[in-house]
Amino acid sequence: MVTLLGGHPSLKIGTLLETEKHDVGDILQESLEHEKAAAASYYELLKVSEGKSILLEEYAREMIVGEELHLDEVNKLLRKSGDVKPFRS
Ligand SMILES: [Fe+2]
Repeated sequence: MVTLLGGHPSLKIGTLLETEKHDVGDILQESLEHEKAAAASYYELLKVSEGKSILLEEYAREMIVGEELHLDEVNKLLRKSGDVKPFRS
């Protein structure tokens, strides 16, 4: 997508999250936050691309679907056995 838009992909990586917490529940909560941040970024992309680029709009929608499914998967892993209500942190 970056090259399609005339850019050059960076090989740099962002800040790494290291909380030193290694409990599975803590790791899943960190994952939940990551998925929320990713979804929020794609919602922002959708907002700024609406009416300007069908390609970017559809890309953003596709990525939002993926991130919301990831959010649901992580949320289900955080629920106590038998809980059907969404996990709330
Ligand atoms: Fe994701």
